[in-house]
Amino acid sequence: MIFEQILVGLMQNFCYIIGDEGSKDAAVVDPGWETGKILEVAKRHDLNIKAIFLTHAHPDHANGVKAIADAANAIVYIHEKELNEIKKREINKIKTIKDNDEISIGRIKVKVIHTPGHTPGSVCYLLNNKIITGDTLFVESIGRVDLPGGDARIMAESLKKLKKLDDRIKVYPGHDYGSKPNSTIGYEKKHNYHMRGN
Ligand SMILES: [Fe+2]
Repeated sequence: MIFEQILVGLMQNFCYIIGDEGSKDAAVVDPGWETGKILEVAKRHDLNIKAIFLTHAHPDHANGVKAIADAANAIVYIHEKELNEIKKREINKIKTIKDNDEISIGRIKVKVIHTPGHTPGSVCYLLNNKIITGDTLFVESIGRVDLPGGDARIMAESLKKLKKLDDRIKVYPGHDYGSKPNSTIGYEKKHNYHMRGN
């Protein structure tokens, strides 16, 4: 599997590229900024972008969605609760997702985990031993719950779901806000105040 973490824009956003080496099919996660740079990375690996996965609809994660969707003729995936915000971006092909859905990128299986709290339609994407956590879980911290649609109590329930995952699963957040760009569920359970306890 090809997996790239790309720092984009001025808000320390992380975009991701997931690629299947066999079929060369790929997905881009959260193309918030610098779409030229994202397309360049895909090209370097000779990948065809088939899908764009959004962790939620906030502009710093979704600004570049139309540019990439149009350039690659890709399908945009968004949780059903945030469909309307993405519709405004005049995307041709949108698919809504919900908890436990599975999406295939070549031979790679990606599972959707609905983790509301930062926004009502926030999701994490679980693939093999990795989870892309958007603005739900950062290294050593979590996403804001005080913005419109945010809810601290619902966030606590979502974090409980993430705590149940295997400690060895690698955590890839939506922003570079911690002491390192990625960690593991086990690391977060030790070093992230919000992930302590049961
Ligand atoms: Fe956000």
